[in-house]
Amino acid sequence: MTTLKNDRFLRALLKQPVDVTPVWMMRQAGRYLPEYRASRAKAGDFMSLCMNPEFACEVTLQPLERYPLDAAILFSDILTIPDAMGLGLYFETGEGPRFRNVVDTPEAIEALPIPDANDDLGYVMDAVRTIRRELNGRVPLIGFAGSPWTLATYMVEGGSSKDFRKCKALMYNNPQAMHMLLDKLAQSVTSYLNAQILAGAQAVQIFDSWGGSLSDVAYQTFSLAYMQKIVDGLIREHEGRRVPVILFTKGGGLWLESMADTGVEALGLDWTCDIGSARQRVGDKVALQGNMDPSVLYASPDSIRDEVARILASYGTGTGHVFNLGHGITPQVDPEHAGAFINAVHELSAKYHEQN
Ligand code: CP3
Repeated sequence: MTTLKNDRFLRALLKQPVDVTPVWMMRQAGRYLPEYRASRAKAGDFMSLCMNPEFACEVTLQPLERYPLDAAILFSDILTIPDAMGLGLYFETGEGPRFRNVVDTPEAIEALPIPDANDDLGYVMDAVRTIRRELNGRVPLIGFAGSPWTLATYMVEGGSSKDFRKCKALMYNNPQAMHMLLDKLAQSVTSYLNAQILAGAQAVQIFDSWGGSLSDVAYQTFSLAYMQKIVDGLIREHEGRRVPVILFTKGGGLWLESMADTGVEALGLDWTCDIGSARQRVGDKVALQGNMDPSVLYASPDSIRDEVARILASYGTGTGHVFNLGHGITPQVDPEHAGAFINAVHELSAKYHEQN
């Protein structure tokens, strides 16, 4: 077992003291980096990057070669699970993800298999093992999966959607069928994340990208309840260390208290909430990850630095903060601005961690 050279990401998630606030970026391996675009061209397309462990490892490490990031995130996608259930994932250039088979009837839901994480999704576990070997203890590796509700939106709609028309109609017309789908997804995500942990993921994040589109009661019933099932089924200790779980509901600012009650170590915040107020609301229960508006990276390095300073001051003194963007970095961002962001977090946060 390799010892971690930089474990401040894991320490902050567990609310242990750190020297500076750790930072990583959602979608840190992606199209804003010219070296990523070159690897994708070499591999042919996005799914070939995901399915080849050497390529997946190469692009995972690219942002770490450029910036002093405090964590690596597995290069893959949340839609690998529906793909492994037989939906046939493909990407149309400029149109985002699509499925050949849509799951929009009770019969189609009934027929869905639960994938075997080590067999049907073995390529992901191979990528995790390859990345861990190549990281060689530099920083921790984050594994991830989509929330059942978020995966269901893509499966029922057949791809991305603005209003989730079909998925919400199914939820209101036939809640029983929706519960069957979400239950199958919760089982699939639990075994998928556990396989990632056993393969070497040192923390895991659940991406509930579309939970924020739900009403208060529907969020509790159709999204949070199934994330709770997953959290209850996860391996929480591996290689002699706690494996922290981060729950990220985009647009979830209303529900931070109930999210904190699930027993996860940390909540991801988008940029619509104030991180200082969020800290007051959740108290000592969880650490917080976030929450700079990714669009700030379009502004000048000086403006980026000001916004980092504002968020650090709002969180205040002490551990329990992992700096991140409130959602993924976008393809149009100048890589130098991402560097200015990461350096600003490390430079400006030291004073919040001085021992009294
Ligand atoms: O954070 C990382 O660096 C790890 C890699 C990662 C990707 N997708 C790679 C990717 C992660 C964590 C994801 C999660 C993901 N995928 C989510 C949840 C996070 C979120 O953004 O809310 C969702 C909803 C998806 C589904 C998905 N995959 C969409 C909607 C798209 C198209 C969007 C786009 O930017 O074009 C993808 C494709 C995708 N996944 C890309 C990357 C780098 C772009 C593919 C390309 O190279 O063209």
